[in-house]
Order: sequence, then structure tokens, then C-alpha cells
Amino acid sequence: MPIQRGCFITLEGVDGAGKSTHIKWVVEQLQRHGLSVVSTREPGGTALGEQLRQLVLTQPMNLRTETLLMFAGRCEHIETVIKPALAAGSWVVCDRFTDATYAYQGGGRELGFEPISRLEQWVHSDLQPDRTWLFDVPLAVARERLARSRDLDRFEQEGDDFFERTRRAYHDRLLKFPDRLRIVDSTLPIETVRLGLAHQVDELVQSHHAGVGP
Ligand SMILES: Nc1ncnc2c1ncn2[C@@H]1O[C@H](COP(=O)(O)OP(=O)(O)OP(=O)(O)O)[C@@H](O)[C@H]1O
Ligand SMILES: [Mg+2]
Repeated sequence: MPIQRGCFITLEGVDGAGKSTHIKWVVEQLQRHGLSVVSTREPGGTALGEQLRQLVLTQPMNLRTETLLMFAGRCEHIETVIKPALAAGSWVVCDRFTDATYAYQGGGRELGFEPISRLEQWVHSDLQPDRTWLFDVPLAVARERLARSRDLDRFEQEGDDFFERTRRAYHDRLLKFPDRLRIVDSTLPIETVRLGLAHQVDELVQSHHAGVGP
């Protein structure tokens, strides 16, 4: 019998929304179902990608350069990590993917969506996440949480307008792909967020086992 391809899950949302807080827990839930799981992130996910991450989070650069570096790292990540893992039957859980480029470079930095759509077509026309959880919080909550957690990178140092444009672009993605993206109200306490996610994990695993896809 051929190996059933794994499921590709991405976690999205503005800085401080709660992606890193929940990813490990999501992976543990999937493993409890007996699944092999690869946990990864963007920018990053490969040795080359982590070096590119360091550059894009710290160095000032032209917006098109920034966008191309995001897709350069993504290409490497897809070809050497994501696709092989999915083909081997593993599930892949990724902290940020192309929706983040639409949100940050397309929305936040106002590049617009069209150039991103062209790069997306070139780099991964044959791959989309099966499920994307969009962790959503308003500006004040994100700022307050980030201030408590760590030093800010190039994106996190941007102003309120940047944040609002980025969040709005994420909401546009939600409207455009309502079957793939699910909003997660991340203003709720961590345990409450997890209860909701647990339902969604169970639903995904069941539909996968039934062979109907998410
Ligand atoms: N539901 C929640 N209630 C209270 N605090 C939370 C909640 N979710 C996350 N936090 C806290 O908010 C901070 C930021 O969360 P986290 O690092 O998970 O965000 P993130 O989405 O990964 O951000 P980034 O994109 O910058 O990596 C952390 O200190 C975390 O403990
Ligand atoms: Mg994080």
C-alpha cells in the first residue's frame, strides 16, 4: 500500500500572537495520535534558511530583496525538508509560511500581493498548507506580551500602522481561503486556546485517517 502523504499545518499571526507558545503543544497532541511530526519554522527551517533569517531580522534592506530572501529560504525549506517529510508520511507543523509574506511584506510593508503571488506560483505552485491556524490579537495585547517576553527584531520594532496593515492582510487571507485558514482568538487564556485547538487537531486527524483530507 502506498504511504499516505502527511498533513501540512502552518501557524500564523502577528508578532506576539502566540504561535511559538502553542506549536510544541500542537506537536505533542499529534504525536499522541501516533503520528510522526516534523516541527519547523520560517524564516529558517534549514541551515541556509536560519542564516537568511538572521539577515532578514537584523539587516536593513530593499523590500524586494527582503521578499526574495524569504522565498529563497522557503524554496530550500520546501525542497529539502517539507516535501520529503510529507512524502514519507510525516506531518509537518510550521511556524509561519507564505501567508506571513502576504501579511508582512505585502500588507505591512505595502509591497502589494501581486508580486508575492507570482513568487508563490514559481516556488510552490504544487504545495499549500492543508490547515492554517491564524492566531489573532489586537495591537495592544501583542505589544504588551512582546514587551514582557524579549528584545524586539526589525519587524517587531515597526509602528502601529505597520502592525494594523499586517493584521488586516492576515484577515484578507482568512476571507480569501476560508476552508484552509481558521482564526484562533489568542486574547483568551492559553488553556482556553488549547481547548479549541485540541478539537481542531482531533478533527484533522480523523478526516486524514478517513482519507477525505482536511
Ligand atoms: N493566550 C495567551 N495569554 C497570555 N499570554 C500569552 C498567550 N499566548 C501567548 N502569550 C505570551 O505572549 C508572548 C508572545 O507569545 P509568542 O512568543 O508565542 O508569540 P509569537 O506569535 O510566537 O510571536 P513572534 O511572531 O514574535 O515569534 C509570550 O510571552 C507568551 O507567553
Ligand atoms: Mg514566535
